[in-house]
Amino acid sequence: MILHELEVRDFRNYKSLQLTLSPDVNIFVGQNAQGKTNILESISMLALAKSHRTHRDSEMIRWEAERAYIAGRLARDERTYTLDLTILPKGKKARVNQVEKRKISDFVGHLNIVLFAPEDLMLVKGGPQARRRFLDVEIGQVSPHYLYNLTQYTKVLLQRNNLLKEAGKGSAKNELIQMLAIWDEQMSVYAAKIISKRVSFLQRLQEFASEIHSRITGEQEELQLHYQSALYRECPSPAELPAYIFDELQKKQKYDLQRGTTSIGPHRDDIEVWINGRNVHTYGSQGQQRTAALSMKLAEIELIRHEVGEYPVLLLDDVLSELDESRQLHLLQSMGERVQTLITTTTTYGIEQFMREKAHVYRVREGVITREGS
Ligand SMILES: Nc1ncnc2c1ncn2[C@@H]1O[C@H](COP(=O)(O)OP(=O)(O)OP(=O)(O)O)[C@@H](O)[C@H]1O
Ligand SMILES: [Mg+2]
Repeated sequence: MILHELEVRDFRNYKSLQLTLSPDVNIFVGQNAQGKTNILESISMLALAKSHRTHRDSEMIRWEAERAYIAGRLARDERTYTLDLTILPKGKKARVNQVEKRKISDFVGHLNIVLFAPEDLMLVKGGPQARRRFLDVEIGQVSPHYLYNLTQYTKVLLQRNNLLKEAGKGSAKNELIQMLAIWDEQMSVYAAKIISKRVSFLQRLQEFASEIHSRITGEQEELQLHYQSALYRECPSPAELPAYIFDELQKKQKYDLQRGTTSIGPHRDDIEVWINGRNVHTYGSQGQQRTAALSMKLAEIELIRHEVGEYPVLLLDDVLSELDESRQLHLLQSMGERVQTLITTTTTYGIEQFMREKAHVYRVREGVITREGS
């Protein structure tokens, strides 16, 4: 799908803006605090009706203004849609083709995006929590079932942990331990579903991610993703997973009681990221870790295409400067061919020729955007 036009009024530091976008690569160049991220944020509002930066919509209304307005003209499935969103101090109004959508869920989903923000660069380098969150968010986008199982699991986990803490204090022990068995049973069912889904998702993601990673690195690096879970690894067969997890939870009861927390389960699992046969978390350079994070996120583009039949629009906020020149070029070239890409950057070092020949380039300065070479 292609976002052809973007119009913005009184949004963040933009008073009024009208842009015609290239279906290929669009590069927004400007110094810090000029409004580059704000542009991408306005597009993510059109896609998701929520911002990746704030939970308070009113923050996005320009300081002196009463309301913010964002509109876009989108081509998908050989049709054109106009999407617009008015943000008021209290609430927002969303329309598709001038028809108001009272339920935001009827608005969301027309425009699909994949957004890569600077904090996503920590996906590989950071702790396991970020990678579990990545799995939960990405799988959740395509599987409501998964979200349901995850919510149930989280509830049961909380209850089990509360019980462990109580029982640890020594009050009415036997009764509590009997109740624990009931939670263990429920937990093992949800845990098995979550683990199985994550394993199969990661296998699919890895096919795309490894291809993309190889392209960005000029065929120098082979990326592999493994789901890391002691339960999954040691269980004799996938079909036996619920029963196996139940047994393990029972075995761990004494240990868990001492600690007052549940020591095994998908809430402790991780993704291992390997490049050329070695764990990048341990052995990778900063650049390798960042590239791997980018490849994992870009793989989502292909997954979305499989789900909805069209490529989403790719928004890359400030990732170029984190990569060396050759990786920057490979990235721009490989994406521009198939996916409409909007990218922000403070420096254009190393990509000048690409910009001249292949991209729309926009200078961003104090909330004003001018297209270069037009
Ligand atoms: N509601 C608002 N009204 C007016 N200006 C705002 C509002 N919210 C944020 N701004 C301003 O928008 C400016 C630009 O923000 P933005 O995050 O887009 O910068 P950027 O170009 O991405 O910079 P960087 O390179 O540092 O990431 C900030 O200086 C901020 O003060
Ligand atoms: Mg920014």
